Amino acid sequence: MPALELESVCKRFGALSAIDGVSFAVEPGERVALVGPNGAGKTTLFNLISGELPPDSGTVRLGGRDVTRHTPEKMAREGLGRTFQRNSLFMESTVYENVRLAVQARAGVSFQMLRPITAYSRLGEETERVLELVRLSGRAGVRASELSYGEQRQLELGIALATGPRVLLLDEPTAGMSAQETGEMVAMLKELPGEITLLIVEHDMDVVGALARRILVLNFGRLIADGPLEEVRRNEEVLAAYLGVGEEVRDA
Ligand SMILES: Nc1ncnc2c1ncn2[C@@H]1O[C@H](COP(=O)(O)OP(=O)(O)OP(=O)(O)O)[C@@H](O)[C@H]1O
Ligand SMILES: [Mg+2]
Repeated sequence: MPALELESVCKRFGALSAIDGVSFAVEPGERVALVGPNGAGKTTLFNLISGELPPDSGTVRLGGRDVTRHTPEKMAREGLGRTFQRNSLFMESTVYENVRLAVQARAGVSFQMLRPITAYSRLGEETERVLELVRLSGRAGVRASELSYGEQRQLELGIALATGPRVLLLDEPTAGMSAQETGEMVAMLKELPGEITLLIVEHDMDVVGALARRILVLNFGRLIADGPLEEVRRNEEVLAAYLGVGEEVRDA
């Protein structure tokens, strides 16, 4: 059974058909890249999956369950995690506090049955596990505002992981990063637990190639290609969609 499945999902903004009948399924543990020109609808598609926006029509399923029009909070409880294209940290709080708050939000439900002292130490353990995954254990006491840009993005990933997602949506996880920061992020994403299903919006074709074997291409809200990178790169419609930046795709 697919970890995530979309069936004929549509979303209009007034006259603009932002997402136009998108269907695809992602298997558990699969790593898929979602690419497409600026304004193609990638972030909108994430918003439709994560419940930030309701689709006009179509169905979203998570682990076979219909989750269409669930709220973002409910989607998080159902096992969906995401990061945002823009920063969403508590800047005045420490790295540790940022992750702990996110862990706590989930624990509110799942730790309710535990004795308070047990729940407290479990929160700490879980927070430290997440900090290790995103390589910020050594920076736990530092305020988010004092982190480097790359570290802030690592922390955002940690917050998304803190909810224990089975499906993780990452919107341009390497945007604005230096080559070195990008390398760190790619290494980190590669090492995420294999059972986590990843859908990544990414413009950098080197990153796409390093992380995903399967590429979905969105253009004007429509899915115009779905397949391995080598195949998608040769697709005429994809090359046309990237006219102007076509070379970037071809040479990647
Ligand atoms: N809330 C909104 N109201 C109206 N129009 C919107 C809204 N959100 C997005 N759009 C429009 O929908 C289209 C798709 O936008 P979206 O942000 O999903 O693109 P994208 O593929 O993520 O682009 P980018 O690569 O620049 O991040 C764009 O034309 C955008 O202007
Ligand atoms: Mg976007």
